[in-house]
Amino acid sequence: MPDVKNIPASNEWAPSSWRSRTAHQQPCYEDPMALADVEAQLSTFPPLVFAEETRQLRRQLSQVADGNAFLLQGGDCAETFVDFSANNIRDTFKVILQMAIVLTYAGRKPVVKVGRIAGQFAKPRSSDVEVRDGIELPSFRGDIINGADFSPEDREVDPQRMLRAYHQSTATLNLLRAFAHGGLADLHQVNGWNLGFVSGNESCEQYQQLAHEIRDALSFMEVLGINSDNTPVLRETDLYTSHEALLLNYEEALTRRDSLSGHWYNCAAHMLWIGERTRQLDAAHVEYMRGIHNPIGVKVGPGISVDELLKLIDALNPNNEAGRLTLITRMGADTLADKLPALARAVTAEGRKVVWSSDPMHGNTVKANNGFKTRSFDRILSEIQQFFGVLRAEGAHPGGIHLEMTGQHVTECVGGSYRVSENDLAKRYETQCDPRLNADQVLEMAFNVSELLR
Ligand code: PEP
Ligand code: CO
Repeated sequence: MPDVKNIPASNEWAPSSWRSRTAHQQPCYEDPMALADVEAQLSTFPPLVFAEETRQLRRQLSQVADGNAFLLQGGDCAETFVDFSANNIRDTFKVILQMAIVLTYAGRKPVVKVGRIAGQFAKPRSSDVEVRDGIELPSFRGDIINGADFSPEDREVDPQRMLRAYHQSTATLNLLRAFAHGGLADLHQVNGWNLGFVSGNESCEQYQQLAHEIRDALSFMEVLGINSDNTPVLRETDLYTSHEALLLNYEEALTRRDSLSGHWYNCAAHMLWIGERTRQLDAAHVEYMRGIHNPIGVKVGPGISVDELLKLIDALNPNNEAGRLTLITRMGADTLADKLPALARAVTAEGRKVVWSSDPMHGNTVKANNGFKTRSFDRILSEIQQFFGVLRAEGAHPGGIHLEMTGQHVTECVGGSYRVSENDLAKRYETQCDPRLNADQVLEMAFNVSELLR
């Protein structure tokens, strides 16, 4: 059982109780009245998601914890105001669906799909300020906080941006719901989810083959009278939303008490996670997250000790419920084999029920010779392969992956069978934050991961 004496009674929690703790990685709002005004508006706005949806996701994640389903979480590093468009949302949706169908087909298990989308705006930064040519400005912290351009006006922290982020999130989610239930997710469309653009790409051919097999299976079922009209699972899907719960003013304002259960939920996303830089046990983010009833995640980097991890698990999931907590490891391909075994062994030995998911992106970021921040396909894949190996060796389930990816044909990560080289990075380097896998790299990654699921 968790050590209960470290955990304050739940009645001491309130959506605002994080305010009495140190909150890391927060912007400095100059005008408290303007901030309070925005918070008051947000707290009256409709919820984006409903408590019952988050409970449904929690049940599905408990299947992942038990090894009966697989979690695919992915999307932009940071959503932006300028890239907000129907096509972008559609392509992210498609690329998630495409990867999920490859994994479902290989693994013969349901894939739980969670987007980093419809609210993934706020970014933690390594420094509060950025200096260019002797000029110092506040760092860019994501469009929900300030702007990316290196100018005093853009970098000014503005609470009004929270309202814009809220409205963009609602419109994004509205479209996602339409895609999920309005025909785009119909299994008969499996070919249409393909965003691969490199002709002769081996993964594209592999995907055509898979689509062909699915079509065969569907037409066989059709003969038996099973079709999209009478069988909703053939034409609909669920795509859940998630983001890093970083900007606590925003998260608090969208926290509501569910009238059915009486519990508090964050209604800005189905799932929220705590970042690697804000998971200090006694600080504000852990305090906020322990009180909401959504499924939550926490990033687990190479610096964590076994003792710290167990305390974190007990603070966030004191009743040890499967599906409540996902540990998102982000170790780095060179470090994982050193660090993960002891952590996995302890969590298993102590009987803690968690989902283990691999973020192979954030531990593998490097600076290319030409200055671009990049990640290599091979190292991303290597981290995932090692993650599977270590967890299986320790008697735990490798439950999921967490990727930064886009349906666009960007050149941000190097490698893959269609070799993006360092020289290609300048061609379409569009991320405002971290480098993402492009549509072709996602498909190739999907087939590689599917080998591990077989
Ligand atoms: C992220 O997921 O974009 C992120 C900042 O990750 P981490 O907290 O693991 O560094
Ligand atoms: Co990132």
